[in-house]
Amino acid sequence: MSNSLRINGIDRPLPADPRVSLLDFLREHLHLSGTKKGCDQGACGACTVLVDGERILSCLALAVQYEGRSVTSIEGLAENGELHPLQQAFIDHDGFQCGYCTPGQICSAIGMAAELGRGVPSHVTDDLEAGDIALTHDEVRERMSGNLCRCGAYNGIVAAIVSTQPGAPA
Ligand code: FES
Ligand code: FES
Repeated sequence: MSNSLRINGIDRPLPADPRVSLLDFLREHLHLSGTKKGCDQGACGACTVLVDGERILSCLALAVQYEGRSVTSIEGLAENGELHPLQQAFIDHDGFQCGYCTPGQICSAIGMAAELGRGVPSHVTDDLEAGDIALTHDEVRERMSGNLCRCGAYNGIVAAIVSTQPGAPA
């Protein structure tokens, strides 16, 4: 459908005002308040959502940029009443305290896992030719460094993410 974007599987008309950020479109227009506004300037990662499986900062994006694309926010991850495995892992591993950064952390980690699956190296990847990149704790910390947690729940966040990766060190 033209002049629309798909949000969590539902086509939504684009906002009339082309200046509306994707973050404000989600929160203020669609009342999907799971995606959080932290800095509103691309520095904290609280607003991270997935667009066609890739993580983006929705505070730095205009909703109209994503006409015809598929956006997934934290509200779109559970299926048939079951939490996404990473949502459950955050609970199991105490991956949050206040929870404000958590939706962004989870969406970012899902996008990060897809990047890893495509063999995209990070700053700490030793072997740039390696097809399979091991998800070490250093790799997680580097790849998730754009998602800040003011509560300092990083140990639980890393443990939760690592626990969902098959074959990753515990
Ligand atoms: S609110 Fe978007 S990066 Fe902070
Ligand atoms: S859990 Fe509070 S900011 Fe991360």
